[in-house]
Amino acid sequence: MAKILTLTLNPALDLTVELTTLRLGEVNRSDALHVHAAGKGLNVAQVLADLGHQLTVSGFLGQANADRFDALFAQRGFDDGFIRVPGETRRNFKLAESSGRITDVNGSGPWVDDDAQARLLARLERIAPGHDAVVVAGSLPRGVSPQWFGQLLERLHALGLRVALDTSGAALRAGLGSQPWLIKPNTDELTEVFAEPVTTLAEQQALAGRLRAQGVQNVVISQGAQGVNWFAEGIALQALPPTVDIASTVGAGDSLLAGMVHGLLSAEAPERTLRTATAIAAMAVSQIGFGIPDLAALANLESGVCVRPLAQQQEA
Ligand SMILES: Nc1ncnc2c1ncn2[C@@H]1O[C@H](COP(=O)(O)OP(=O)(O)OP(=O)(O)O)[C@@H](O)[C@H]1O
Ligand SMILES: [Mg+2]
Repeated sequence: MAKILTLTLNPALDLTVELTTLRLGEVNRSDALHVHAAGKGLNVAQVLADLGHQLTVSGFLGQANADRFDALFAQRGFDDGFIRVPGETRRNFKLAESSGRITDVNGSGPWVDDDAQARLLARLERIAPGHDAVVVAGSLPRGVSPQWFGQLLERLHALGLRVALDTSGAALRAGLGSQPWLIKPNTDELTEVFAEPVTTLAEQQALAGRLRAQGVQNVVISQGAQGVNWFAEGIALQALPPTVDIASTVGAGDSLLAGMVHGLLSAEAPERTLRTATAIAAMAVSQIGFGIPDLAALANLESGVCVRPLAQQQEA
């Protein structure tokens, strides 16, 4: 069991509104409403907790509507390292029609001022040491600059922590300079940051080589239903997921990231690490929500994952 800190700078309350058919501009009636404390770092934390790890969670929370988050932390036994800021954590509405179509309306969160940013840095200086890894996932809240975010990651690196980073755009660009231990972009996120195509294996290998030369130890490139490629010292592996009925892809990337961190910290063989991580991501896709409710079902999905060396694929 490892001790892992996850950082969610811009969490959200997910409000899923179920309705038969959405009619724009009309009065709609909902069949059900579900409310979840969410955010990428918190999703990763929940999957890691299912895998038996001890979690500390941190980031910024609006103090006016923190109840659901407090309840989640209590229920899951998370150590709460969040900084409370004035205002409300953002709400993300998901309008889910019976056809399976989902319309997202994402809110903007509270303004996080310099004082709150300084308080988070001070808290992390105190609580981060002693963790086996820090997972930093999701977008930046209003008020937080990519430059500050890069400095925060550099500070975690200077404290000797392994940092797994999953973000996009300017935040990812700023974070790459801090020599993260692991990154898990999808191909769209890589294309946006590097303004070059990363569809072919040769393109991915070249980019991963450059990132690894800059000090990123594990480059994990996710490709939705096409699976994932992992580049690290002596490792170039591809995993193809099993075919599953898609219930909801929410949390797929977070589940893959949690699975990779789990395997690496548990010193599993690389092949096994990638196989389990890919199965956990497939499990997320096959259910509403994410997590590991059933270990036998996970083992079954693992046996359906195809892991192979990338060089071999090139020759095929
Ligand atoms: N249809 C699918 N069937 C099986 N596995 C899937 C499917 N879609 C995604 N996955 C698994 O989930 C992993 C992550 O998916 P994806 O590449 O879409 O991540 P992402 O874009 O970061 O997603 P997120 O929106 O969660 O951030 C994939 O590498 C794959 O292993
Ligand atoms: Mg993602």
